[in-house]
Amino acid sequence: MISKETIERIRDTARVEEVVGEFVNLKRRGTNWLGLCPFHTEKTPSFTVSPAKGIYKCFGCGASGDAVKFIMDHEHYSYPDALRYLAKKYNIEIEETAVSPEYQEEQNLKESLYAVNQFAEQFFIDQLWNDPKGQAIGLSYFHERGFSDEIIKKFRLGYAQDDWAHFTTAAKQHGYKLEYLKAVGLTSSGEKNVDVYRGRVMFPIHNITGRVLGFGGRTLKADKSTPKYINSPESEIYNKSKILYGLYFAKSAIIKEDNCYLVEGYTDVISLHQAGIENVVASSGTSLTEGQIQLIKRYTPNITILYDGDAAGIKASFRGIDMILEAGMNVHVILFPNGEDPDSFSRKVSHDELVNFLSTNRKDFIRFKADILLQEAGTDPIKRAGVVRDMVESIALIPDGIVRNMFVQQCALLMNVPEQTLFNELNKLRRNKLKEKQKKERGESAEWDVLPIETIKVEPPLQLELNTHAQEREILRLLLNYGHLDLVYHEKNEDGETIEYREKVHEMIMDELAMDDIHFVHPTHNKVFIEYQNLILNTHTQESVQQFFVRHDDDEVRNLAIELIIPRYTMSKNWEERLHIFTVPEEEKLHAAVVEALHQLRLRHINLMIEDEKKKLKNTTDAEVIVAIMQVIKNMEEMKKRLSEELTTVIHPL
Ligand code: UTP
Ligand code: MN
Repeated sequence: MISKETIERIRDTARVEEVVGEFVNLKRRGTNWLGLCPFHTEKTPSFTVSPAKGIYKCFGCGASGDAVKFIMDHEHYSYPDALRYLAKKYNIEIEETAVSPEYQEEQNLKESLYAVNQFAEQFFIDQLWNDPKGQAIGLSYFHERGFSDEIIKKFRLGYAQDDWAHFTTAAKQHGYKLEYLKAVGLTSSGEKNVDVYRGRVMFPIHNITGRVLGFGGRTLKADKSTPKYINSPESEIYNKSKILYGLYFAKSAIIKEDNCYLVEGYTDVISLHQAGIENVVASSGTSLTEGQIQLIKRYTPNITILYDGDAAGIKASFRGIDMILEAGMNVHVILFPNGEDPDSFSRKVSHDELVNFLSTNRKDFIRFKADILLQEAGTDPIKRAGVVRDMVESIALIPDGIVRNMFVQQCALLMNVPEQTLFNELNKLRRNKLKEKQKKERGESAEWDVLPIETIKVEPPLQLELNTHAQEREILRLLLNYGHLDLVYHEKNEDGETIEYREKVHEMIMDELAMDDIHFVHPTHNKVFIEYQNLILNTHTQESVQQFFVRHDDDEVRNLAIELIIPRYTMSKNWEERLHIFTVPEEEKLHAAVVEALHQLRLRHINLMIEDEKKKLKNTTDAEVIVAIMQVIKNMEEMKKRLSEELTTVIHPL
């Protein structure tokens, strides 16, 4: 364990603005520093760092803490790992107090493997720059490819001699144990102890703190029988599904640009960096894993995939991209001209041309996929029907309802199909998925299999929570997001004439709740509701109402408001702009949504009252009281039935 004294030294030495500044672009504001919060998506900076107090605080999402907390939250480190990170940054030697022997052993093993890799990285760098063969073969290869000295140094590229055991011999001489050299895959696992990398240029692979986990070594031979790249095997320190090549060098640019370019190869990453595009990582030729997606998501919700123009390869990648959609990220795609990859293209054009190319050729993935599949299907109606299904499958994975609906509309236009057809298909898919999920959660209960999904949605009998929280939240969500919009609806009056009504969402909600004398039970919900009512009196805009709650001092109010508003914040700028062009279906169906939310809240209150009455029933033997209670329950059951009937006539797609 790290000693108390060391911890104090680290805390005393670490400057919060320096630590945060490595990940967030901070600008001075008086005595504080200000930047875009790395813990939530925002356009105007509300992330404040106070060097005097040694803390940071985001006034948007409420994240706050000191330098250690920042590293823990931002890098997903444990407490000791965060301390170690800071100790390394500030050159503080760590004094350890006794730990369990097993833990110590594991740490020792990992440290030994890191040490071997670090030695190897430096060894290959020395070979490249200082050895005559390294210069003649390795360095000139990089130069021929157009890599500058600066970029070669930045990415710590190296050269491994074309010799049987040049590296292994040197490593052993420096005291590195064979077992460790083998464990990281630098020395062959057989009896002969030869170098695995011979006559190759070396690309070290770093984790997000810059430690070397492994290598990719590229052959310099044209010979087809040698593999182009040899990559380190998985080891105690190298878990391939959780690493992206280049992330260490890209992370601050990814945060700054709020976008991550994804390419295939080591050389694509490096060439783009040289061309001034630094927010780029490589999947290293394999399809993306869940772990890698989560890694990117820590820094941005936006991924842009750069493709070279091979149709088969592009189609093969569609499944992997579905995974990114499912993670709730926004996926864009850029297709390079035939025969060009990001590496070759970026070396051909100027920086400005490259930037221009990237921005003008960016398509959102759904549109890109539709274009490619439609082109392939031509005019064949059966094939086109297949494309519709294929597209809906992708769209159905998107967790955000608003974004999903937007894509349905877009696809309907693109494919010349009625929107409703797509919605039907989409609902069918999502319903099946929900059913499967519920089946999994409950085991294979036969009873649930036969229940239609709508019944489950209206009143889930097994999950009946004895409170009104969910219903209250829904009302607040509608108020915070749509309170200022006008509802226009038609109802018949007593004379049977159809009358057009027009009122604001908040007016309808306030009036109906007041009429039914319904109060919010949850204290935070109630607080928000009451403050909302007061704000509305002072003619605020929707925007300023949201801002008021998002910046609220009360943690719970703020967090709740952020949660209810958040879908707007997670959408990319591009989409938000487009939302003004496409009508948002929820807005269209707003009247139904408001009516449903109010009904659901009433229904829940009635259920709770019935439960109360039933409890009373258990505690009395007085026949008169029992009859009275039974009458109350009967009335309420009737009310409930009526409400439920009205509810089922409210159309709500899943
Ligand atoms: P590429 O064949 O596109 O290589 O494979 P590259 O990085 O662009 O290299 P150059 O430009 O031809 O020199 C893309 C990625 O696939 C992985 C590597 O991570 C490579 O960067 N790969 C490729 C392998 O792991 N092994 C191979 O044999 C080939
Ligand atoms: Mn290439």
